[in-house]
Amino acid sequence: AKRLTVPALRARKGADAEPLVMITAYTARMAQLLDPHCDVLLVGDSLAQVIYGLPSTVPVTLEMMAAHGAAVVRGSDHALVAIDMPFGSYEASPAQAFESAARLLKETGAAAVKLEGGEAMAPTVRFLTERGIPVIGHVGLTPQAVNLLGGYGARGRSEVEAAKIVADGVAIAEAGAFMVVIEGVLEPIAIEVTDRVACPTIGIGASARCDGQVLVGEDMLGLFDRTARFVKRYEDLAGRISAAVEAYAGEVRSRAFPAAEHLYQPRV
Ligand code: KIV
Ligand code: NA
Repeated sequence: AKRLTVPALRARKGADAEPLVMITAYTARMAQLLDPHCDVLLVGDSLAQVIYGLPSTVPVTLEMMAAHGAAVVRGSDHALVAIDMPFGSYEASPAQAFESAARLLKETGAAAVKLEGGEAMAPTVRFLTERGIPVIGHVGLTPQAVNLLGGYGARGRSEVEAAKIVADGVAIAEAGAFMVVIEGVLEPIAIEVTDRVACPTIGIGASARCDGQVLVGEDMLGLFDRTARFVKRYEDLAGRISAAVEAYAGEVRSRAFPAAEHLYQPRV
């Protein structure tokens, strides 16, 4: 199969286009399972909490993103794979961002990067795009800024903040981003950004009017224990894992496992 391309995805804009399906993936096997159903697999820096038990995405390194990015590329052949640029790998300058993004693409085979931020990051988005690196923006609730924001509550409750988020989304899109993720904002903000930018918007806690949606795979599958309002659980994998492991533990303790079919005997 041929992978979806940046131009093909960028064209999926507006009420008449088919909404874009994005899910996070961090491992090869999960990527394999999600790939047939997705347009974009996002190797999110949310792997901090979901995979590594870290308190925020701030400690994530380029090495971690490269390792998981390569695994997701190996596990997929249909969706476009995009990798989050981790905190500290791109903010200092466009040149720093290019070096980090190029390394991610070269070491993984992924086609695009995502970075957080608005107007301040617009020159960086332009710098990368003009040099052949497709960029997905991310505005609104930007988890890498948790130390500044003080938490993960919805953004844009004041008029000033709402206007700033709209300006951020527009600036990133005009700088050349081929998609913009809008996270955790009052719905009218997501609708206004969606109406004002030429590229698809991808919502998470944003609006069904966005041009696509993204969720963390482990969240929608009920595998992770955090529950934001914007997560819909389509499965209870945590419950199913607990039940399966309880059954295994019981059979080990009763010697019901292993049974004859799991064992090797000498040939007679
Ligand atoms: O890291 C992540 O999972 C993300 C998405 C939720 C947009 O950035
Ligand atoms: Na992220």
